Amino acid sequence: MEAPERNLALDLVRVTESAALASARWLGRGDKNAGDKAAVDAMRLSFNSLNIRGTVVIGEGEKDEAPMLYNGEAVGSGQGPAVDVAVDPVEGTRLLAYGRPNAISVVGLAPAGSMYAPGASYYMKKLVVPAAATHVIGHDDLDAPVGQTLRKVAKALGKDLDDIVVFVLDKPRHELLVRDIRAAGARIQLHTDGDVNGSLMAVDDRAEVDVMLGTGGTPEGVLSACAIRGIGGRMVCRLDPQSEAERQRLLNDGVDLDRVLLETDLVADDNVFFAATGLSGGSFLRGVQYRGRGAVTHSLVIRGKTGTVRYIESNHNWDKLMRVSSVQYD
Ligand code: FBP
Repeated sequence: MEAPERNLALDLVRVTESAALASARWLGRGDKNAGDKAAVDAMRLSFNSLNIRGTVVIGEGEKDEAPMLYNGEAVGSGQGPAVDVAVDPVEGTRLLAYGRPNAISVVGLAPAGSMYAPGASYYMKKLVVPAAATHVIGHDDLDAPVGQTLRKVAKALGKDLDDIVVFVLDKPRHELLVRDIRAAGARIQLHTDGDVNGSLMAVDDRAEVDVMLGTGGTPEGVLSACAIRGIGGRMVCRLDPQSEAERQRLLNDGVDLDRVLLETDLVADDNVFFAATGLSGGSFLRGVQYRGRGAVTHSLVIRGKTGTVRYIESNHNWDKLMRVSSVQYD
């Protein structure tokens, strides 16, 4: 028996709540950068209250283009465990700016040295399935005919193929994939953005989605892997450069573009913590509801070591909070 350790995810949720409360003010206002900046500023401040020695591995970009939460930046109080940190203060900046559902604020923590650093890679092809289908999915399924993979998943979940819902980003690169899924007889949820949300929905049986498929961001892949290591499920993925320049940069860095990775390669330790808070609302995590003198947020919190998944509804009270908070939420 180990003595129970502090569940950092319960502290972490305050970080995503803070980013959500600050940035959801920008819902539908058409300003991508302002929404993101509000989230980054609030998130950066609230990291100071966390007793960690954190290093941002998945951040807002390189130092010269990101003033805060840049890759390599130290975050946290400087005391406590040494951890790698993955952040996406607004996952789905366009969703938030244009008032579409499913923008979320996301953070993952894992022991120092255990997170995959994407380097020059922007894009990754991903297949995500829930825990009950993990045993039927292997490395080969990333390139197997999609109908074959979906049939195996349906069987493992005890469903018919036309019960299955596949989350796909609505991008020209997925035209063929969408055609193949339709031909196989499965159903599709098409989303303009937000494949972390798609991966969460695939592994969480509260959501209608069963599978997430297609190419999205590499940082989003690592964040999703933090959650999958906790909830269970499988992610099979491979870097998938979308331009010749991206491909060349990766080859120059000696990256093996054929290597198929699992969620355990993206986060090599299951002592991982994950939190996400809804910004714009949606079928999975509800958005921030401002209520005059306060607000309500909905979050998902995961502790990898124990596999505990919590849904947290928080009531925030401006009259009290504004006396102590340095972020102006009201
Ligand atoms: P941002 O929040 O950085 O705008 O990312 C949104 C997103 O849709 C991700 O969820 C996804 O992984 C990626 O962009 C896909 O990139 P692209 O829109 O360039 O295909």
